[in-house]
Amino acid sequence: MGKHEAQRLLGERLTLPSLPEVVTKLNGMINDPKVGVNQLGAVVAQDAAITAKVLRIANSSYYGLKEPVLSAEQAATVVGARSLRNIALQASVFARYEHLAAVPDFDLKSVWRHAILVAQLSQWLARSARRPVGLTAEEFYTCGLLHDIGKVVMLESLGPQYVDVIREAAHARQAIHLVEARVLGFSHVDVGTLVATRWHLPDAVVRSIEFHHGPQYEVLAHPEVAVVAVSDQVAYRFELASAPTALAKLAEFAEKSVGIDAPTFDRFVDYAREVEALIEV
Ligand SMILES: [Fe+2]
Ligand SMILES: [Fe+2]
Repeated sequence: MGKHEAQRLLGERLTLPSLPEVVTKLNGMINDPKVGVNQLGAVVAQDAAITAKVLRIANSSYYGLKEPVLSAEQAATVVGARSLRNIALQASVFARYEHLAAVPDFDLKSVWRHAILVAQLSQWLARSARRPVGLTAEEFYTCGLLHDIGKVVMLESLGPQYVDVIREAAHARQAIHLVEARVLGFSHVDVGTLVATRWHLPDAVVRSIEFHHGPQYEVLAHPEVAVVAVSDQVAYRFELASAPTALAKLAEFAEKSVGIDAPTFDRFVDYAREVEALIEV
């Protein structure tokens, strides 16, 4: 339902971003065995503003590099082609929506911090799952990074009306996607799905965005959805006072959906605390 309503508003009230140009270029080269990782770095280096951001991300504590990297080519060699693409995607998407930092009553930084956290958690879960999870760890980074992209798209397109929706959700203590759907007829899940589809991301990536808030049968049916949904919930809850009960339920769900046992889940929550403290935006 919501997806159709969002689609109907395209070009009228909703403007979707294009896939960043640098990512389009990298996509065309990444599967070509004749292209070296250095050449991918050289493509990034063509854009000075993106390069500066890429270097900041590559040199952040998350990547734990021993020596700081000083050029995009060097970053490409050290982190690898697929991580470079994620870093370029992150840098470009953040740059595309930089102007929204000035919107009153909207905390853009916290949206990006959450996106990075869910990206990192999804990647960790994918590496620790004992069952096949449908995508590579790097692809899971993309899923996490983009799962809530619909929120910034909606803010840019709808402006104060969207800020009101956020305020109402906070006031009513209701999940934002439910209030979006009630007030607007579609949610950030629908918009995110349209973005991922427009960018021709793999079907499993699109699904992980489309169903990250449920329904539960979709989450259970697709491990890639479960990885992102569990990471999202952990990212929201690990700091809350109500955490122990909520986390116990999530631990059970993670075991059922992706075969993460209880000790692994505990390490996962510890990891969430550690990386959250290191995120820089
Ligand atoms: Fe969401
Ligand atoms: Fe989220």
